[in-house]
Amino acid sequence: MVDFEKRSTEYVEAINWAVSDYMSRDAFNGRESSGLELMREAMAYSLENGGKRIRPMLTLEFCRLCGGNYIDAIPLAVGVEMIHTYSLIHDDLPCMDDDDMRRGKPSSHKVFGYANALLAGDALLTLAFETVLSAKKLSGEIKARAGLELAKAAGCSGMIAGQVMDLANEGKKASLDEVKATDKRKTGELIRVSAILGCIAAGADEEKIKAAENYCNCIGLAFQIVDDILDVTSDEETLGKPIGSDSENEKSTYVTLLGLEESMRYASGLTQKAKEALEIFGSEGEFLLELADMLSGRKN
Ligand code: IPE
Ligand code: IPE
Ligand code: MG
Ligand code: MG
Ligand code: MG
Repeated sequence: MVDFEKRSTEYVEAINWAVSDYMSRDAFNGRESSGLELMREAMAYSLENGGKRIRPMLTLEFCRLCGGNYIDAIPLAVGVEMIHTYSLIHDDLPCMDDDDMRRGKPSSHKVFGYANALLAGDALLTLAFETVLSAKKLSGEIKARAGLELAKAAGCSGMIAGQVMDLANEGKKASLDEVKATDKRKTGELIRVSAILGCIAAGADEEKIKAAENYCNCIGLAFQIVDDILDVTSDEETLGKPIGSDSENEKSTYVTLLGLEESMRYASGLTQKAKEALEIFGSEGEFLLELADMLSGRKN
């Protein structure tokens, strides 16, 4: 039986160590274009600031599950986390969700000002691709494929499209299909590509990639449903970010459309479906089965 705690801690520690390394003064001093200690500080402030590290964990576990050495995929995992972190910095800006708290600390713009928060996000987005394309243990072909997949998932037909749709839906009653289409992009795409990058690093075949995609499409949607539920049921200290943000911004969410109980049932159903998608991996898929349950029952 897999020791979920042990393996997830190992992954989180590997990610945190790598993140600190990329954010170290030494790494920045080596950059001809650096010189801006303030930018390094702003990027490190958000990136090193905890977070559940779910997306990089998916990259590392799918790499292992598909027969690769997860250590080789660390730069890809860090790249995804950099993009995720940038998306949170921008998501909190006053022109978006206008939230003052993130990961238990004041949001980037509260500490560094609007312009620097915007630029720290931009810099993390760019550094993500630099990080992926500089991975030492992966071939040029694998890195190019990973970079392309990441760009597509993060960009104007992926996460950004979802954020645009999310803002466009503010103040009106979107249908369930519209909310699903939004969340598939704003949250689902980065979660999906996290797993795909792990598969690519390991040279996985199409059948495994398809299974990874099916699993992530379900946990991705469930993830946003739970996020919407916690926005109503949790408290700021547990969540590390403000509660009530969705209603303040007049968002249509699963909770406003389906109610709390039905939303919870919906997330549980998706979690069950996610687990079924892992059948081809047999007992080796155990960690991801537990991860799906953990995400569905999470408190933050
Ligand atoms: C928050 O993501 C944003 C959503 C997509 C709902 P996480 O809940 O993974 O945030 P961190 O990384 O743990 O802070
Ligand atoms: C954010 O969705 C999705 C992103 C692309 C960042 P939310 O706006 O619901 O995320 P939180 O609740 O602020 O973390
Ligand atoms: Mg948002
Ligand atoms: Mg938000
Ligand atoms: Mg939210």
